[in-house]
Amino acid sequence: MADTPSKEAWSSRVGVILAVAGSAVGLGNFLRFPGLAAQYGGGAFMIAYFISLLLIGIPIGWAEWTMGRRGGLAGFHSSPGIFYSIVKHPIGKYLGIFGFIVPVMVYMYYVYIEAWCLGYALNAATGTFSQPGVNFGDFFANFTGTKQDGASIHFGLHDVGIFVLIVYVFNFYFIYRGISRGVELVCKYAMPVLILIALIILARVLTLGTPDAAKPDQNVLNGLGYMWNPKDIATGLKNPQLWLAAAGQIFFSLSVGFGAIITYASYLKRKDDVVLSGITAASANEFCEVGLGGLITVPAAFVFLGVAGIVGQGTFALGFNVLPYVFSQMPAGEFFATIFFLLLFLAAITSSLSMLQPGIAFFEEGLGLGRKPAMLFLGLVTALGTSLVWWFSKDLKALDTIDFWIGTVFIFLGGAVLIVVFSWVIGIDEGIAEAHQGAEMRIPALYKPVMKYVTPLFLAAIFVMFILANVFGWNFSFADAKFQPTGYITDLIGPNPSDSARITFGFIVITIIFVALMIKLAGKRWDAARKQGGNNS
Ligand code: PHE
Repeated sequence: MADTPSKEAWSSRVGVILAVAGSAVGLGNFLRFPGLAAQYGGGAFMIAYFISLLLIGIPIGWAEWTMGRRGGLAGFHSSPGIFYSIVKHPIGKYLGIFGFIVPVMVYMYYVYIEAWCLGYALNAATGTFSQPGVNFGDFFANFTGTKQDGASIHFGLHDVGIFVLIVYVFNFYFIYRGISRGVELVCKYAMPVLILIALIILARVLTLGTPDAAKPDQNVLNGLGYMWNPKDIATGLKNPQLWLAAAGQIFFSLSVGFGAIITYASYLKRKDDVVLSGITAASANEFCEVGLGGLITVPAAFVFLGVAGIVGQGTFALGFNVLPYVFSQMPAGEFFATIFFLLLFLAAITSSLSMLQPGIAFFEEGLGLGRKPAMLFLGLVTALGTSLVWWFSKDLKALDTIDFWIGTVFIFLGGAVLIVVFSWVIGIDEGIAEAHQGAEMRIPALYKPVMKYVTPLFLAAIFVMFILANVFGWNFSFADAKFQPTGYITDLIGPNPSDSARITFGFIVITIIFVALMIKLAGKRWDAARKQGGNNS
């Protein structure tokens, strides 16, 4: 047993589902997803995406809900603690490292983007974007500091600084209030409001028609078609990067596989359902992602700017450079821009809260810290990372580096560990039987072989494919194979290495070592408690 048992719990069934859905629905749904779908060509990407949803998102989600509830019953709420209680081997607790590193390090840059959202909402509301002659590209570059390192460390209304501070205070305030009075409360209000806003904006976008009669091709239908018409599916599916992107998006968007859900589920009670709740939260996320996010950003950009507004824009430029322009072209644009960025902000804060709780839980039960010192410690650690992201803002290098290594590669590894522990260490039969306790729906029988064999193999296949492609230049053929590392690797090893990427990577490595040492320490405390309390954890 952890020796600081927490009395925290969800106050209602709807509460926990909204909180998990709140974690899932985030910037990933409204920015990352449309950006990726457009970049990889809607149709092919969506095939890989739905396969990943069925083979990764849903099964790993169920495994994570089940293991979280089980760990919580043993008195643990952090991923290292939960793995410690499930895997009875000294290595067990280290398997939980992903569930600490990923949420905490993703938070470091996620909160920076969250600050943009708040800042953009306020600037939209106060008319910045409707002033004559405003240059949206310059505004974006100044606000976020993409042109020069350190350029965004300013504190006026047109700068990100003040918003970074506000967003930090918000997050830590609500986390401080705890599971039911903080997280649950925020999600209960933020989730319905954000869906309402998204529906209003969707209605506006779908009724845009053909705003410029001189450009009849730039109409809503073609905008939707650009996003969704199937084209070049076979070639698309032969691109290993597309598979990694689609699987990565499923992980990122559903918050599955790396600590957020496992911690939230640890506050459930023995008889609480996990199967129906898991699928409900996942469905809510997919509705917001495909049904709302997928129909707003790209079609809106297309209608006013055509293909040029989309191709090569990158995820962030689409949201923070193209869209403000697009809104400024519509009637009542100020209003729509304001509520759109408010929507992004609400989606982001319910996600960032879920990234803090796993860290707090670990400091509490692993290091024996009280709530306030735990918050302070986590505040310092994350602030260090956010400062790095904020300072090394040129080309958003630091942000991008953490997003790739932690937000893509590490998520992948964490998800793989989770499903393997569920299906092979706990054992698939026992695992599914445990999931069924108190469940209001059964896991379809087909999912037994899927969770045991297909999901781990599918993850392995994508990973091998990705390595083959990046290191050996394989593209479903070795005909003209050559060493083709991605930018993330050349940034580190050259040619043309980037100092900020190297420093950020160093920071990641140091953090991992530091966290591993803390887990070692925590393991000693837990072992001592286990000996004292009999072997009942
Ligand atoms: N799922 C969130 C989104 O779509 C991101 C997230 C990542 C949340 C990691 C929790 C942990 O934006």
